[in-house]
Amino acid sequence: MAIGKKPWSGRFQKPTAGNVEKFTSSIHYDRRLYPYDIEGSIAHATMLAGQKIISKNESAKIVSALKNILKDIEKGKFKFNPADEDIHMAIEKELISRIGETGGKLHSARSRNDQIVLDVRLFLRAEIKMIIGLVNALQRQLIKLAKREIKTMMPGYTHMQKAQPVLLSHYFLAFVEMFARDVQRLNECGNRLNVLPLGAAALAGTSLPIDRQRTAKILNFPAVSNNSMDTVADRDFVAEFILAASLVMMHLSRFCEDLILWSSGEFGFVEISDAYTTGSSIMPQKKNPDVAELIRGKTARVYGDLFAILTLLKGLPMTYNRDLQEDKERLFDAVDTVKDCLSIFTEMIDHTKFNAAKMRQAAQGGFSTATDIAEYLVGKGIPFRRSHEIVGKIVAYCLQNKKELENLTLKEYQKFYEGFTDDIQSIIKLERSVNSRKHTGGTATTAVLKRISEFEKIFGKI
Ligand code: ARG
Repeated sequence: MAIGKKPWSGRFQKPTAGNVEKFTSSIHYDRRLYPYDIEGSIAHATMLAGQKIISKNESAKIVSALKNILKDIEKGKFKFNPADEDIHMAIEKELISRIGETGGKLHSARSRNDQIVLDVRLFLRAEIKMIIGLVNALQRQLIKLAKREIKTMMPGYTHMQKAQPVLLSHYFLAFVEMFARDVQRLNECGNRLNVLPLGAAALAGTSLPIDRQRTAKILNFPAVSNNSMDTVADRDFVAEFILAASLVMMHLSRFCEDLILWSSGEFGFVEISDAYTTGSSIMPQKKNPDVAELIRGKTARVYGDLFAILTLLKGLPMTYNRDLQEDKERLFDAVDTVKDCLSIFTEMIDHTKFNAAKMRQAAQGGFSTATDIAEYLVGKGIPFRRSHEIVGKIVAYCLQNKKELENLTLKEYQKFYEGFTDDIQSIIKLERSVNSRKHTGGTATTAVLKRISEFEKIFGKI
């Protein structure tokens, strides 16, 4: 094949227009798939020789040339050319230019349609492992913080209104739980996509006597796909991965939203290190939580990636259509964004100070232990709806008289219900409130420490 000529040009009378070449080319972004494309081609050539579709000698020549191409790409010595269309063509063309006609035998029993799905599955399988590693590193960091801050009380909020006191550690562990579900989702997605597509060829399979089990074994796939049409048409796994990535981003984004609020002067709960904040070009006093804000912003990108894939797929007739080439940039963007955000967030949280005194002070007022009083009355046999009403009246009385629950005398409490006894003063203490919630899932120190030790069984001592 002459250099510069397309491998598919046999039936064409005219060369591709220059702008069409540019328009259809994906080499500038799919080139990052090269290690997987080469790994897949080596496995395919080995299988072809095992089945005597090509000779052992030809296979050896192909494999050794592919390994050299891999080295050259890694050393930056390989010239990618937009006219090569995509990574598959670029490597195949180079192979043929290095070993001649024999190189042309590699594509027997294969199409770019099954080849691209193979590359993306291999790529995503490796990336998912790395992403899980990053999520696990963040979880370990949060468990470390939960251990360190086990005495720190903070106000828990619902509707952004002060609700009940909780341990800061309990807050950290809430995110460890969310990220644990993210890891499950990523693992499930990784297992589902771990299926060999090669052999589906263009869409109908091949008349050549291939051994798909052999290729699967070489590439470490526990299963081979069961329907060649499905194999080349399906990108469920791309959408599924980006959904899992979107949920990781959503969790990071909510965490960031709290850090942004908490680092305002009004809250003063946290101080993010100078190294992870930026200044204002006009207001000299400013220190802005831009990293946290950008993570929140980049969440929108990943959601956009998900919607791009879902929209890309919805109207496609069976089976392969070139539209599918548009999945790559969205997928790469989601992978890169989630990895970047996980790494930088883990560093940032490690460089953030939590102001225990401020948090405790905020947890103290605002009737945050009103529910404890209502539950105390339930202990005295009062139906919860009535006790709720009684405590509501006490709160209204405090508001009218500018008092806090802590400042009321026993006599004042008894005006609302005569059965109040002097233990009421201890019921509304923060420690008592928090530590009474000692059931599984509660915020009591004992319950939180128990969950930490369960996590340490999974993650090792932290
Ligand atoms: N670059 C293409 C993609 O990403 C590879 C498959 C091309 N197949 C084809 N028949 N044009 O989907």
